[in-house]
Parts: sequence; structure tokens; C-alpha cells
Amino acid sequence: MNAQPFTFAGQHILSVNQFNREAIEYVFHIANQMRPYALREKRTEVLRGAILGNLFFEPSTRTRVSFGTAFNLLGGEVRETVGMSNSALAKGESLYDTARVLSGYSDIIAMRHPQAGSVAEFATGSRVPVLNGGDGANEHPTQALLDLFTIEKECQAHGSTIDGLHIAMIGDLKYGRTVHSLCKLLSLYNNIHFTLIAPKELSMPTGILDTITQAGHKLTITEEFSGSLDADICYQTRVQEERFTSQDEADKFRGKFRLDQQIYTKHFQSKTVIMHPLPRDSRAEANELDNDLNLHPNLAIFRQTDNGVLVRMALFALTLGVETIMQQHERPVLWQTPTKSIL
Ligand code: CP
Repeated sequence: MNAQPFTFAGQHILSVNQFNREAIEYVFHIANQMRPYALREKRTEVLRGAILGNLFFEPSTRTRVSFGTAFNLLGGEVRETVGMSNSALAKGESLYDTARVLSGYSDIIAMRHPQAGSVAEFATGSRVPVLNGGDGANEHPTQALLDLFTIEKECQAHGSTIDGLHIAMIGDLKYGRTVHSLCKLLSLYNNIHFTLIAPKELSMPTGILDTITQAGHKLTITEEFSGSLDADICYQTRVQEERFTSQDEADKFRGKFRLDQQIYTKHFQSKTVIMHPLPRDSRAEANELDNDLNLHPNLAIFRQTDNGVLVRMALFALTLGVETIMQQHERPVLWQTPTKSIL
């Protein structure tokens, strides 16, 4: 790619609605350039002196740590606030005031918050770019981008493309923000077949179904696994118990959709790639993605998490406008690194 088709510098990344195919391809083009830095083959200090405000007001392992790691790998420093009770939000401070204050301490902010729309509200008070790390059941745009990046890589490995993909999404499609954002991104491509498998109470929101059908894609909705699915991707999700009004309600659905070697073999093809945004609920009563698939070559869950670093590095470089000068600030790696063959 030669031309820069989309201006990211200074932009917030709040929703996948901001992206078209050209912009996605540019993010992926930059993400691919991050591979040698993520593999520690070399370093770049292009963001030396820059500070990431990493604000996580809801539990997270991958998103929080990979945002921080991505920023560190570009040479920047990370300041974290974790948990609502450890911030002045617990004293009634508004998101706007918090943003005005913290954007004075940071060059860019990544944020997760339990309320839908909260990160966009926060961004109105921020003087620096804000990246949405998940806002309630609404969106998780950086997860959707890393999922799509992974889907593209998996398709390439199987000699196919995203266009023409058949994806089965399984589980809590109502509260699972990752599938909301991913459906919107996939709808930008051609001839996608979405098979949505969920109980009626946890079905995909109407607005997302409208996006899929209005773009002319094929949609199959069912409440149960049945027969053999010719899916390229099986995207399993967790019951988002933190979004239910009562634990009893969440318990009704726990363990309803399990995927193990036997179920996978019965319902999917030998080509079907298994994805999950993680965390998977591995407690016995849920066990939604069994450990007996851990060594299956089609299990892409840890390729997803590794790809998350590349995509988040790309988003930082793009929003801070340094994506074309990373090589000018390279340094050698002085320590011995293990082989990271997965990426
Ligand atoms: N996929 C994801 O958002 O994981 P975390 O909740 O651990 O960030």
C-alpha cells in the first residue's frame, strides 16, 4: 500500500461505525508492520516520552494488558487506573470532569466502563484521543478489529478470503459486545453467511440484525446446534453474567452451549476455525470451550490474543500519527528472547 487513505491522527476510536473497508485495510497494513517489534526482533522508541492513560473501570485481563504492552512496545509509558472504587468516579465525579483532568496527564487514553455510551461521553471531555476498550454491552471496537485481523489470517491460511465467509456465532449474542462490533465490521464485506445460535432470551439485538440484512448478507437464526454446519469460523462466546439483573437469570444459561472435541466433530467441518474473545468460563458448570480442544490446530483463541497486540500497536501509531516513522526510531534488542513462533 502506498497511499494513506484515512486520517486517524488525533481521532477517538469509539465505534466500529467509524471504519470502512479501506480504513480497516490500512489498520491491518500497519499491524503487519508491528510484527518484528512484537516478536522482539527489534525495538522502536517512536513513542518515547508519550504517556498512555489506561483506565479500566470494569475487569479486564487481555484488553488492559495488551493496550499497555502495545504502548510499551512503541517506547511509551503507561499509567493505569483500575476499578471504579479506586477512582473519584466513586465520589460522584462526572466522566466529563475525569476526562478533562486525565487528558491533561496523558497523550492518549484507553478506557473500559460498564455503561453503554460511557466512553463516548468521556471522550467529549478529553483533549487527547480516546480508544474504547469496551462500553457495557454496546461495543468493543478494538476486539472486533483484532478478531477480523485474525479471521483474515485464518482465511489466508486456508486459501480463502473474508468475502464469502460463513461464520457461526454461539452463546450470549445479546450482551456480548464483541459479536455486536464484529457483525458490523463483517457486514462491510461481501456475501457473508451469519449463523446465529442463541436462546431467544440472548438473541442478537435487532439493530445488528438490520445491519446484516440491509447489507444483503445471508442470515440463519437458530436456538440449538443441529446437523452439520459448513462454517469457516465458529465464534463461541461467554454468558455475560455481569450484565444480567440477577445471578439466577444468568445461571439458567450457564453451560447451555458447550464446545468440546466431540461436539465440534459432530457439528463442524475439519476446516472450521474456533474463535472466542476470551475469557472463556472454564468452571465445570459452564465449560463453554473445553480444554480438550487446547491443542487442536484450528483453535485460534491464542492467535487472537497475540494479534491483539499488533492491532492495538497499529491503532496507537495511527492515532498519534507516527505510523510512517517507526523505522527511524528503531533500536536493537539486547536481551535473549524465546522464539515466538505463534505470531
Ligand atoms: N476479550 C476481552 O475483552 O478480554 P478481557 O475482558 O480480559 O479484556
